[in-house]
Amino acid sequence: MSPAKSTVLVTGGAGYIGSHTVLALKNAGYDVVILDNLVYGHRDLVENILQVELIVGDTGDRPMLDNLFQSREIAAVMHFSAYAYVGESVTDPAKYYRNNVVGTLTLLEAMLCASVNKFVFSSTCATYGVPNVVPIPEDHPQNPINPYGATKLMVERILSDFDVAYNLKSVRFRYFNAAGADPNGLLGEDHNPETHLIPLVLQTALGNRDSISIFGTDYPTPDGTCIRDYIHVNDLAAAHVLGLEYLLKGGDSEVFNLGNGSGFSVREVIEAAKEVTGCEIPIKECDRRAGDPPALTGSGEKATKILGWQPQYPSLKDIVSHAWEWHQKRHK
Ligand SMILES: NC(=O)c1ccc[n+]([C@@H]2O[C@H](COP(=O)([O-])OP(=O)(O)OC[C@H]3O[C@@H](n4cnc5c(N)ncnc54)[C@H](O)[C@@H]3O)[C@@H](O)[C@H]2O)c1
Repeated sequence: MSPAKSTVLVTGGAGYIGSHTVLALKNAGYDVVILDNLVYGHRDLVENILQVELIVGDTGDRPMLDNLFQSREIAAVMHFSAYAYVGESVTDPAKYYRNNVVGTLTLLEAMLCASVNKFVFSSTCATYGVPNVVPIPEDHPQNPINPYGATKLMVERILSDFDVAYNLKSVRFRYFNAAGADPNGLLGEDHNPETHLIPLVLQTALGNRDSISIFGTDYPTPDGTCIRDYIHVNDLAAAHVLGLEYLLKGGDSEVFNLGNGSGFSVREVIEAAKEVTGCEIPIKECDRRAGDPPALTGSGEKATKILGWQPQYPSLKDIVSHAWEWHQKRHK
């Protein structure tokens, strides 16, 4: 048996993208410690599926963090934990700045104190705001239009400054719409409340919701509905392992979009779900929502070029099928 590779601390590892990445890290031979306050995370998935150490705690708890770093040899931190409800960030921005910015700052300071200087960060396409061009390149101006996006941009700026001042090396991944589920059916998406399109459509297929709302049918897109870039959660997880290895090999700080470069409209997602599930999915056509750009897609070319990232599941049918298998098990 080959010896275990380095130990990675994964914050938010009991959540959706974090749990899939923990599985990918384990499969790649890494030791993993999860830090999650379980506000939205799932203890059962960590204990039954991931079977790694879970520390139930908050990134804002500096004494706990100091103890964690002193008692373990942590080589790098992957930071998924954050609040991510755009609407709530508008009505309660304090909650978002405290958790996403102050909590991250506390974590970074504890890392530096323990001489841990490798950090993989979950940023978002929401830092770009309304794009001037799609697919959005990494050097597109960042003008977030809600506090959630602003918190992520602030952390990106902190990371740039900490690199210059303290030699903290980071990979910042700006994800587009994470979707799908582990193809082996072990893990999947279980947000509560749920706001993402694919799980909402599948909940409608299961009969757990009456209908799916389409916000805006008169956008300048081929079928009039918004286009988004859906990226399979296992492809995100694979990118994180590559990003980690890049940093462990001494790579410099970098930022990467994680998207497929092409998108699917809301109607295309609903049609794919009808085909995959064989169920009726009633729709409700509603007015546009403020701040929804017609199309949001991002090229992953830079991640392919520098990290060797190759998405395995770009097809909408695969994404919806994997999500459907999970939803039938978890939410029936
Ligand atoms: N889901 C997407 O499409 C998407 C897109 C872009 C960016 N992101 C970012 O990716 C990350 C993961 O998203 P997700 O969809 O897996 O969310 P999630 O809510 O499923 O996972 C986040 C996890 O972090 C934990 N957490 C929150 N605050 C914490 C704190 N202070 N201390 C410890 N644990 C804490 C939660 O309990 C949860 O388990 C987030 O940072 C999010 O902003 C997600």
